[in-house]
Amino acid sequence: MTEEKQIYTIEDLTLQATQGHGISPPARLSVFGDPVGHSLSPQLHNPALKACGIDAQYIRVHVAEHNFLEALGAIKDHGFLGTNCTIPLKFAALDACDHVDELAGKLGAVNTICFEDGKIFGSNSDGPGFLRAIREAFAIDAHDLRIMILGAGGGAGRAVTMQCALETPERLVLANRTREKAELLRAEVAPLLEDELIHAASSRLQVADWSNEGLEAELGNVDLIVNATSLGMKRSDPDLIPAHLLQPHHLVYDMVYSPQRTKLLSDAQNAGARTANGLSMLLHQGAISFETWFNREAPLEIMRRSLEDASTS
Ligand SMILES: NC(=O)c1ccc[n+]([C@@H]2O[C@H](COP(=O)([O-])OP(=O)(O)OC[C@H]3O[C@@H](n4cnc5c(N)ncnc54)[C@H](OP(=O)(O)O)[C@@H]3O)[C@@H](O)[C@H]2O)c1
Repeated sequence: MTEEKQIYTIEDLTLQATQGHGISPPARLSVFGDPVGHSLSPQLHNPALKACGIDAQYIRVHVAEHNFLEALGAIKDHGFLGTNCTIPLKFAALDACDHVDELAGKLGAVNTICFEDGKIFGSNSDGPGFLRAIREAFAIDAHDLRIMILGAGGGAGRAVTMQCALETPERLVLANRTREKAELLRAEVAPLLEDELIHAASSRLQVADWSNEGLEAELGNVDLIVNATSLGMKRSDPDLIPAHLLQPHHLVYDMVYSPQRTKLLSDAQNAGARTANGLSMLLHQGAISFETWFNREAPLEIMRRSLEDASTS
């Protein structure tokens, strides 16, 4: 790596390895993904590293799935502390680790890798980051909520569904365009919601039809609505929920953060509901990864300001 780039390649990593060229501060952390150019993680982590006086730089590396192990080996051998993994690598990351912590095992995906004593440790900060974001935005814990997850079938929807189920919410309603994926997930989370006192897990855990009628039938009986689909990123996207179905008691969390005010959030605000966008989940998952790598509290407010600046520039 002879100069700072927006996106590095696996060849750059090898070049650094073989020729000793570097950047300053040295690259010691990264996000791997395909695509990876949209990732705001460097803007989140580099100001935090600087503020903490850590001589390390966080970079984006474009890594396709078939190159994942090679890229992981390259950074492990050349002094990196670890890496984040984003689409589509969170499942490959799970398989590549020598040790996966209990939560990441349950969520079925790893987004944070840490090298220690020559071993690869995997964890997942997406689920806990989501919980912190909900608590911060709405001052309530998932345990006390009736939750509907739209997109419970995609990667993010799966992690958030499992994390919510572990919190044993009052109700969990799953919906996904491809219904079979939500049904499979329902079967996986059902045992988490059964306990000795409440045998009626089936009424606490539902799969809703992916139709206006299906959503309408459930919306009166949920508090928190989570958009874990990619709908809302493009202006031309269809409405996720017809505006007239949104109610003042709803808490609406849109995992999409670009744009920051999606049509769903604007409809929800017009209906008098409270809302938050996915930037807070991004912030908190990043802070948890930082805590994993450095075993110290992350400078949250610095990270928050940097992320806000990066997302509006
Ligand atoms: N804020 C954060 O920190 C954070 C973290 C992770 C992800 N995200 C966001 O979460 C969203 C999902 O990401 P992902 O990684 O889970 O993606 P993914 O694995 O590709 O899943 C996409 C989901 O969206 C659904 N979907 C896509 N197009 C649709 C359409 N036209 N109509 C209805 N449903 C549709 C898919 O349903 P099918 O199963 O039927 O295809 C699936 O449930 C993205 O917007 C991403 O940016 C945010």
